[in-house]
Amino acid sequence: MTIVAKAEQPIGVFDSGVGGLTVVNKLRHLLPHEDIIYVGDTKRNPYGTRTQNEILTFTEQIIAFLERRQVKLIVFACNTATAVAYMKMREKTKTLLLGMSRGIETARHISTENRIAVFATPLTIANHVHRDEAAQLDPSLTIVEQPCASLAALIERGQLNTEEMRQAVTADTKPVLEAHVDTAIFGCTHYPFVQPLFEEICGDSIVFVDPAHETALQASAILKKEGLLNGQKERGRLRLCFTAEVQRGQKLAAHLLPPHEFTTEEVVLS
Ligand code: DGL
Repeated sequence: MTIVAKAEQPIGVFDSGVGGLTVVNKLRHLLPHEDIIYVGDTKRNPYGTRTQNEILTFTEQIIAFLERRQVKLIVFACNTATAVAYMKMREKTKTLLLGMSRGIETARHISTENRIAVFATPLTIANHVHRDEAAQLDPSLTIVEQPCASLAALIERGQLNTEEMRQAVTADTKPVLEAHVDTAIFGCTHYPFVQPLFEEICGDSIVFVDPAHETALQASAILKKEGLLNGQKERGRLRLCFTAEVQRGQKLAAHLLPPHEFTTEEVVLS
């Protein structure tokens, strides 16, 4: 394939469900001419309470699916899959891969007290990826790790404004508020769906960082470096592929993306 033909291939993006659409949203702003195929594994989410082996298998299946569609770059829009599977997949995948940014770089520039919280799934927290990256970047940073057991599943069910969601966010933010952090990272791509609720409950004491922006910047840098930016003049096409409950995915996608800008379909991964 020539480099021009390769540049015309879509970018593949995936997550356990709708969370990665927060990343797609940033990619569409930064790279408006790129075609994107998104896989949301709505049949098997949430990922954050599964085993490492399950996440490895699911990630492998999704990468194989996207490779069959000849994508030029695969973006892990899922922190859990990044924490568990990214390094292993890099060893055996030919296609360019990009894991979810941890957001530490942005957060440490915002934090005046060097005290940063990370809200993430239990599996991401168990892998301590944010804590370890922060320790390498700047040992003076204190990282407060907060696992959130139910948030991603509630968001998947569209419970963005329910009492149950409010109670879950209240419970998950309490230890973080008590730890006196001044900055917090959304270490799960689902959570920006309920950023206003986090902000309301935490007041002005915490600034929230969504690493989706950093991730989109990295995707853009990779495509530029490889000479793979799509040269088309039109706005890129966006295909949202869900493994179950397409209508639910479609409805949640419409919270972030103009409905006329995407198509949805149900897919089987293996
Ligand atoms: N959105 C994913 C993440 O960033 C997974 C959430 C889940 O399915 O538990 O970790």
